[in-house]
Amino acid sequence: MKDLMSVDQALELTKNDVSRLYKEHVNPGFATMLSLLNFDRKFVRAKGTKVWDEDGNEYIDFLGGYGSLNLGHNPTAVIEAVKRVMDQGLPNILQASMNTMAAVAAYNLSKLTPGNLSHTFFCNSGTEAVEGAIKTARIASGKERILYCQNSFHGKTMGSLSVTGRDKYQHPFEPLIPGNERVKYGDLEELEEKLKNGGFAAFIIEPIQGEGGINVPPEHYFQGVRELCDKYNVYFILDEIQTGFGRTGKMFAAEHDNIVPDFLCMAKSLGGGVMPIGAFSTTAEIWERAYGGIDKALLHTSTFGGNTLATTAAVATMNELVEKDLPANAAEKGEYLLARLQELVGKYEIIKEVRGRGLLIGLEFKELERGLLDKLSGGMLSKAAKEYLGAMVAGALMNDHKIITAYTLNNPNVIRFEPALIITKEEIDYLIDSLEEIFSKNKGIFSMAVKSAKTVIGSIFRK
Ligand SMILES: Cc1ncc(COP(=O)(O)O)c(C=O)c1O
Repeated sequence: MKDLMSVDQALELTKNDVSRLYKEHVNPGFATMLSLLNFDRKFVRAKGTKVWDEDGNEYIDFLGGYGSLNLGHNPTAVIEAVKRVMDQGLPNILQASMNTMAAVAAYNLSKLTPGNLSHTFFCNSGTEAVEGAIKTARIASGKERILYCQNSFHGKTMGSLSVTGRDKYQHPFEPLIPGNERVKYGDLEELEEKLKNGGFAAFIIEPIQGEGGINVPPEHYFQGVRELCDKYNVYFILDEIQTGFGRTGKMFAAEHDNIVPDFLCMAKSLGGGVMPIGAFSTTAEIWERAYGGIDKALLHTSTFGGNTLATTAAVATMNELVEKDLPANAAEKGEYLLARLQELVGKYEIIKEVRGRGLLIGLEFKELERGLLDKLSGGMLSKAAKEYLGAMVAGALMNDHKIITAYTLNNPNVIRFEPALIITKEEIDYLIDSLEEIFSKNKGIFSMAVKSAKTVIGSIFRK
């Protein structure tokens, strides 16, 4: 008999037990990073915008699962729906059949997504949604190359990584899928130049660059993108994996610009924070071109894609978003949060800019002057402070104020606020008061940078 651990035993483990298992069996580097940042708490309960650790401390979650928790943690409506389906004993996985819940989830998406997007492919994550859209654009167009944006983030599997515009993630895995090209985000002139000469199957883009640092494009940019894609006969893939399901104040960000893409990629909050699920929706015409007829119907599939439990969570999530009109709440609370953060911009030297839409908001710090920091730290600190200021402020928010946030992956100098769409004004006020305390108590960022970089960041990034 192998000496396995049971679920009951798992539930009894201490923080140190978990940390040891993580170091020995999961990802030692990540475990070390979390413990150095003092982020290695053991969270034992979560509901709505709140999380509790094993010592009974209460935290407000302003990170929201990177956009997966639009309904908040453990939303009752979704959990109840999943439980009901389980209690009925419906088969969860039975590929040689048409799944009722998948059919209904696809129907609901055809109602919620803009324009004539009617056909949906279900998978299990965001990166798979992007893979599916890219493959489908290639087969439907008969062309291969994909145009994508600098600073974009579309996922980390090979196809998605090949259209993710950050060298740090791409270089270690080269050669990637050949023929793809980058273009500047928000620049229609450059886009036209590329499309004119490119022979591209598709252009893939996020409505707001999430991991890139919460970058909002110029007004009317997306109408221009739609026109150029039509003009040069290139499919327009809109990645709403982070912006979808109410996050930006509309059900989908595409609605702000009144545009209909050829492909809409979704994941994250589609599963209500309860089930992993991803999807892309496209038009009947493109679906027919790609997968029409028995021969081609199963060219692109996924074993778990469209399983009963995941699609039940999706159906319940969509209903909850509509019934509670959560996109409108995101618009209202987002405006309030943005305005309150704007008040801090002139007040504290260290803040460069605040930007975003709805409840997808980024606060960017100024880059600190090299000279002084180099002197203070023998060169090490300026790199840390330049690249990891967001992490330092996120650390202070977590440790001193019990607020969970994070920096953006492609731009660590930006700290993001992406709470559940049910966040309250009082919770937003508490965040602002906490930021004020951090910025004023630390008398500018120098003392904070010196304090945390010497102890924490230094040990992480010393190579
Ligand atoms: C816009 C966007 N696309 C794709 C992805 C990848 O999603 P996943 O991590 O589920 O593969 C993300 C994740 O952060 C994202 O923000």
